[in-house]
Amino acid sequence: MIDAISFKENTLHYLDQRYLPLREDYVATKNYQEAIEAIKTLAVRGAPLIGVAAAYTIILGINSFKGTKEEFPAYFKTLVAEVEASRPTAVNLFFAAARLKKVYTDNFEADTLETLFAKMHDAAHKIHADEIANCDLMSRHGVEQIKIDLAHILKTRKLNVLTHCNTGTLACCGTGSALGVIRLAWQEGLIERVITSESRPLLQGLRLTAWELQQDGIPFVSISDSSSAFLMQRGMIDFGIVGADRIAANGDTANKIGTCAHAISAWHHNLPFYIAAPVSTIDITIPDGTHIPIEERNADELRTIFGTQVATPTTPVLNYAFDVTPGKFLRGIITDKKAVVGNYLNELKQLFAE
Ligand code: MRU
Repeated sequence: MIDAISFKENTLHYLDQRYLPLREDYVATKNYQEAIEAIKTLAVRGAPLIGVAAAYTIILGINSFKGTKEEFPAYFKTLVAEVEASRPTAVNLFFAAARLKKVYTDNFEADTLETLFAKMHDAAHKIHADEIANCDLMSRHGVEQIKIDLAHILKTRKLNVLTHCNTGTLACCGTGSALGVIRLAWQEGLIERVITSESRPLLQGLRLTAWELQQDGIPFVSISDSSSAFLMQRGMIDFGIVGADRIAANGDTANKIGTCAHAISAWHHNLPFYIAAPVSTIDITIPDGTHIPIEERNADELRTIFGTQVATPTTPVLNYAFDVTPGKFLRGIITDKKAVVGNYLNELKQLFAE
């Protein structure tokens, strides 16, 4: 299994995803500023993994604190704010920071700094372990839902599934969210072939998902982002499943740019299109997708392809990293707690009450 991220002996270890699959660079750091830079540059990426990386980054930050107990609150506040400013869309980052902030507020008064820091270390490792476990739960719920929704096809043949961006071990720590569902479905003999769209401009689908599928020996083919409608028209896709970076209370879902076009095409062709994401990706505090902050990244990511200039340096560019798919285009949202189909507003709220 790929070791995308780990924290051992007060050191953060991660696989630098920017150069995959051509180069496998493993990085080790004790420096929290370097860890923030890794999140910003997408050396580590994928919503659940960003949450885990944020938690470990905060731990690196507190490890380098040298002041008194009285000085710690101001230091901690600045540290968390710096980590939270690294990427805006994946809510897992804020979810992880909130879990560590809670450990701090619940224990600061009573504990020595040493005891407090030990509790925060444990909390960060727990966030990591939870995300690994979530993958298995999502996979099971997703496969059950697919067996129900696509039973009519499964009577005669296996399924062709479209996915976008990367939602595997590299993004989620465990087997993956959408890719975890696909992996289990394949193990159960339900999948003919995976169709992975490239995910311009940083090519997470072409580089990372393809790499993970290749390692597992799962049959796949890569397509350009603009090909999905045509393949659906030709009957070459039976359903779609992707991950999420933030899901609003009504089911509107932010995911890698290009997702919304795939989902609308699937809806037009009457094909089920699912989101698979842990509950840590649901932002129940926002009513709909218009409130999701959408990251806009450096224009040169689009004007160049891996360092090679393909447009003039002054070409005006809009480089949104994510789009928002309205919940009405989704057949279901597969979480670690259950597969939610139907009334997202009530059902997603219910997940937080359980
Ligand atoms: O910009 P990235 O690579 O961090 O994008 C996040 C994603 O990996 C995807 O949007 C993904 O589908 C959701 S995270 C499993």
